[in-house]
Amino acid sequence: MTDSHTSIQLTNGGQLRNFIALRGLPKPVLEQILDTAASFVDVGGREIKNVPLLRGKTVVNLFFEPSTRTRSTFELAAKRLSADVLNIDIARSATSKGESLMDMLRNLEAMASDMFVVRHADSGAPHYIARHATPNVAIINAGDGRHAHPTQAMLDMYTIRHYKGGFKGLTVAIVGDILHSRVARSQIYALRTLGAAEIRVVGPRTLIPNDIEAMGVKVFNRLQDGLRDADVVIALRLQKERMDAALLPSESEFYNHYGLNNERLTVAHPEAIVMHPGPINRGVEIASEVADGPHSVILHQVTFGIAVRMAVMSMCMGGRETERAARRQQEQEGQDVR
Ligand code: NCD
Repeated sequence: MTDSHTSIQLTNGGQLRNFIALRGLPKPVLEQILDTAASFVDVGGREIKNVPLLRGKTVVNLFFEPSTRTRSTFELAAKRLSADVLNIDIARSATSKGESLMDMLRNLEAMASDMFVVRHADSGAPHYIARHATPNVAIINAGDGRHAHPTQAMLDMYTIRHYKGGFKGLTVAIVGDILHSRVARSQIYALRTLGAAEIRVVGPRTLIPNDIEAMGVKVFNRLQDGLRDADVVIALRLQKERMDAALLPSESEFYNHYGLNNERLTVAHPEAIVMHPGPINRGVEIASEVADGPHSVILHQVTFGIAVRMAVMSMCMGGRETERAARRQQEQEGQDVR
């Protein structure tokens, strides 16, 4: 899977062309995303909040699963890059009249779309679309099943780098429902590639995948052990929509053992930051005193998300422009030879 992921995501010259998953992407590409995002962060504070990088391009938001932050920040990111943006309302689209996903995508491609931002309940859907459906359209994964959520992980990396100055020597604790979390999986790949010292996953046995240690993380079943001296604490929501069985006794029992509150946070590093991808469930995985408290950077994650999504979108379009230019040159050389 790594190979097919890498080849579909990068041009021959190593530039980004699709953004599907972080597994297999080299460190310089992740660093380029963070550095490009840094150059976009202040666009949001300007009088005129856009730059012309995607002028004349059409970006289509295709969200087959609910979303607030991700969908709206992708839309804002595309608009700040001056793209035309189409939001397809899946519930009201012709897929509800029996049109297949592939037919719908080919029709959107026929409208000269340049980029699809895809969220789907099936793991692998964005990869499948990129490989088989619409090769001329850049595909950006906005979350697929339990598999990956690469732009979320990169905005989290941006936030960590912003507050901690880098990844060297950092201990990061990811707490809660790891089993169903595409965010956790993408964060782990990103943190490993960027060189975090220690990555911990913390939660009840039932919510931690059996084979997770093979990803290079340490497993903790007791919250206090997992939080000890952590520089970054990331809380995750219980993804009940993805749980097939009753894996948990109750939300209140989860809070009793794993809910983040001020008292429990005292064992972490005194300057630890607390993050959460949202949506937060107050009183389940995190207490309001922490979510709204001095360690929390949760709303900053959202703001940085726009710049990070601008970076990924502009880099994918840039990669495809380079590919097209190379193809044109090859065709030209072919003609000259004849
Ligand atoms: C996450 C997701 O959809 O995977 N949210 C997000 O994109 N900000 C996490 C979640 O739903 O709990």
